[in-house]
Amino acid sequence: MAFYSEHVVPRLVALTCGTSGLAGLRAATTAGLSGRVVEIGFGSGFNVPHYPAGVERVLAVEPSATAWRLAAKRVAASPVPVEQVGLDGQSIPLEDASCDAAVCTFALCTIPDPDAALAEVRRVLRPGGRFHLLEHGRAPDARVAAFQQRVEPLQKRVADGCHLTRDPVAMVTAAGFTVEDVDQFYGAGPKAWTYLTRAATVRADEVPGGPG
Ligand SMILES: C[S@@+](CC[C@H](N)C(=O)[O-])C[C@H]1O[C@@H](n2cnc3c(N)ncnc32)[C@H](O)[C@@H]1O
Repeated sequence: MAFYSEHVVPRLVALTCGTSGLAGLRAATTAGLSGRVVEIGFGSGFNVPHYPAGVERVLAVEPSATAWRLAAKRVAASPVPVEQVGLDGQSIPLEDASCDAAVCTFALCTIPDPDAALAEVRRVLRPGGRFHLLEHGRAPDARVAAFQQRVEPLQKRVADGCHLTRDPVAMVTAAGFTVEDVDQFYGAGPKAWTYLTRAATVRADEVPGGPG
């Protein structure tokens, strides 16, 4: 499985996530961000061309060397400096409150412990820092959701841990982010894989039910 995970999956992801149809959504996700931005699950860098001028530096967290190699031409062409700072969103090697913003696109589905990753995003964001995301997840229609539940075990094997039934809004809210703007809709393609959430959130002062 190591060869499949490291060499095949990143190329499949680049094919499915690198489509021109997602470009507008990626631009909408990065809109309004500025300063130092940490991006977890950076993949092949498809958000890089969409970072607005106010972004000073992108700090990428991505475990796949193949994905990072596939990102090379976008990183080289970017007017915004991009550096790989870590391998695991569940343990981000950055100081507390050292980032102005964070981005995650199509990665909360795959990161093994998304709650741990969100706690790390919150830790490295300064108070009031923005966290923008674009994810697929659990569909609101019962029949689609039931199908997602059935097919998820196979999906996780084929797509290297990618879940279909995670709920991005519930996860970020529980992790201590306030959702300011959210758009949820079926994108192009089979409904089980294309119920999308684009959300703009800010780091809340406290984590619900937690010490803050
Ligand atoms: C479906 S891809 C999305 C890539 C990219 N964000 C995009 O929008 O095209 C999921 C990414 O999450 C990465 N990933 C998996 N586990 C991770 C972890 N623990 N921390 C950070 N990224 C992780 C994978 O290597 C992969 O690049």
